[in-house]
Amino acid sequence: MRLIIHPNYEDASRWAAGYIAGRIGAHKADRPFVLGLPTGSSPLGIYRELVRLYREKKLSFAAVRTFNMDEYVGLDAGHPQSYHRFMMENLFDHVDIDKRNIHILDGMAEDPERECRLYEEAIAREGGIELFLGGMGSDGHIAFNEPGSSLHSRTRIKTLTGETKAANARFFGGDPSQVPATALTVGVGTVMDAREVLIIVSGYKKARALRAVVEEGINHMWTLSCLQMHPRAIIVCDEEAADELRVGTVRYFRDIEKQTLRAYREKTEREK
Ligand code: GLP
Repeated sequence: MRLIIHPNYEDASRWAAGYIAGRIGAHKADRPFVLGLPTGSSPLGIYRELVRLYREKKLSFAAVRTFNMDEYVGLDAGHPQSYHRFMMENLFDHVDIDKRNIHILDGMAEDPERECRLYEEAIAREGGIELFLGGMGSDGHIAFNEPGSSLHSRTRIKTLTGETKAANARFFGGDPSQVPATALTVGVGTVMDAREVLIIVSGYKKARALRAVVEEGINHMWTLSCLQMHPRAIIVCDEEAADELRVGTVRYFRDIEKQTLRAYREKTEREK
């Protein structure tokens, strides 16, 4: 796992967007680039930056196919708090993605189990997810894989915890009882199958969970700790989110990144 700590949220977002744009740009044109995407406030800075890169003609989504992580059950695509709407407003309406290449779970599906099964099949048909971008809940969850979720779970319906409803109440007039009780979500196993996972974490509220995910063992109570088993995982965070990490942990990951950067610079120098 790489842990990249930036001084603030803006820098972390800019770095992550640059990384994603680089991965899309370097991808062979004969195959689509399959990108997994999250909602929430954490990826907003990345989405703003991706839109900017697109406007500056440094990035195109023409060959990108997307799969979103989750959707609330009972909210239709036009609902102001649906993740469909969120994605349109914050990313898809502002870039050149072909709308037919966007996949988001349907929270209004009559048969949610079938919807989840078909979603997994659609991901497999596209050859799997190349890069899954994600955020993290304050209880260490990934997508809507709440504490206690199986680390092998696949796309399914999940009941949201009180902590998640309280955290997301800000989008529902501040009233946790207005937050849908259930959601459709990709599983931990679905995220783990992606060839690469990139997680953005920001703010003091996430510091306790980040410490558990990075420094403690793999544990279904902090489902993002699954990343410890992933061969290609990056967490990019700001200093506030890193606040509970041990000094030695921070020093270790900073040192690794310095060496990576140095090796990269030397390589580009040689290739000039
Ligand atoms: C929800 C989403 C997650 C997201 C989390 C944190 O639970 N399903 O994908 O990571 O919220 O949201 P925020 O980034 O707003 O803190």
